[in-house]
Amino acid sequence: MENKFPKDFLWGAAISSYQVEGDNLNSDWWEWEQKGKTKDKSGIACDYWNRYKQDHDLLEQLGVNSFRLSLEWSRIEPEEGKFSDKAFSHYRDILIDLKRRNIKTVVTLWHYTLPLWFSKKCNWNKSESVGYFTRYCEKVMDKLGSEIDLLVTMNEPRLVLNRGYLLGNRPPGKRNPVSFFLARCHMVKAHRECYILAKKIKPEMLIGITQYCNDFDFFGRPKFIGWLAEIVENFYNWYFFDEIGKFQDYIGINYYYGVEIHLWPPFITMRKERPELTQMKWGICAEGIEEIVLDAWKRYKKPIFILENGVAVGNDEIRSNFINKYLNGIKQAMEQQADVRGYFYWSFLDNFEWESGYDIKFGLVEIDYKTLERKPRKSFYEYKKIIQNNCL
Ligand code: BGC
Repeated sequence: MENKFPKDFLWGAAISSYQVEGDNLNSDWWEWEQKGKTKDKSGIACDYWNRYKQDHDLLEQLGVNSFRLSLEWSRIEPEEGKFSDKAFSHYRDILIDLKRRNIKTVVTLWHYTLPLWFSKKCNWNKSESVGYFTRYCEKVMDKLGSEIDLLVTMNEPRLVLNRGYLLGNRPPGKRNPVSFFLARCHMVKAHRECYILAKKIKPEMLIGITQYCNDFDFFGRPKFIGWLAEIVENFYNWYFFDEIGKFQDYIGINYYYGVEIHLWPPFITMRKERPELTQMKWGICAEGIEEIVLDAWKRYKKPIFILENGVAVGNDEIRSNFINKYLNGIKQAMEQQADVRGYFYWSFLDNFEWESGYDIKFGLVEIDYKTLERKPRKSFYEYKKIIQNNCL
């Protein structure tokens, strides 16, 4: 009984446009792939663009009451200033199809991929980016706003900044601290402007961002090192939330694994269980999610949504256990008053896992990439049971 989740808890699953739709030719990631920077090319992906009804049938079967998806800016505005009515009307059909099944729509405006023209012309390090992104947001609100229940303006801006502007191993492939700093300022500004604009148009809609968070365990946690963890976490997990300040209605968390820091080599390892069990070599650390949620609650006292959490494995039984363990961690945090309003498993479908391509299997639903046939895994039914009982 005590493991019951609140009555109106959002049970969901998540995808992002580029990873499932297929044929997003006008995007910066498409060009990145052509340069040979990814293991596979995304190609037709899962063909969600054409098969979304079939996928929504599966969502209904899973019993979720919400679904997180993203819009592909490069489809909506394939050329600067030219907005595609066709793309808008297709996205509208997708969202309406979800609503008619009583599935709430959690819509991300920007999940990693950008229109090629934007990336060439300015990208985030130039100040025009703010105006371009805000104009895109305004058009989306105008055409699709009535069908959006919760808006995520940006998925993991910090990760894009680190990898795209410092490490250079994701688009736009820069290694430049000045560009990093400028891009960061523009992202913050763009988010704030979108918040103000979208709030005016639809005041009841919750708006925020979602951020990839890790918990850091400093080996042995002697006192001064606990203090160090605090500094690292402040910078790593929370600075973007801090900078957007009051321009957010909720805290969106993507959580996968924890990190252990040592005083001797190897300096960084995965916290907890056996990273070798997972295809990404990420350790399974359910305590971490409890800690992160409590930390977020303590800091912001705002509703929390777990907008991504999942595991890539060959052995699906690990996935079922993972879901149970992590949900238990979330429940523990809720029992300590954290106001968690929803959980979205990543990912609903197997999909294009960026540089790692198609071998990585995060899905509750397996995709046969030859036939594009969909097949729910056992963990799909395990998650369905939890949703049905509203309880672990
Ligand atoms: C991203 C997803 C990605 C997942 C697994 C998340 O941080 O938002 O796009 O597939 O991690 O790597």
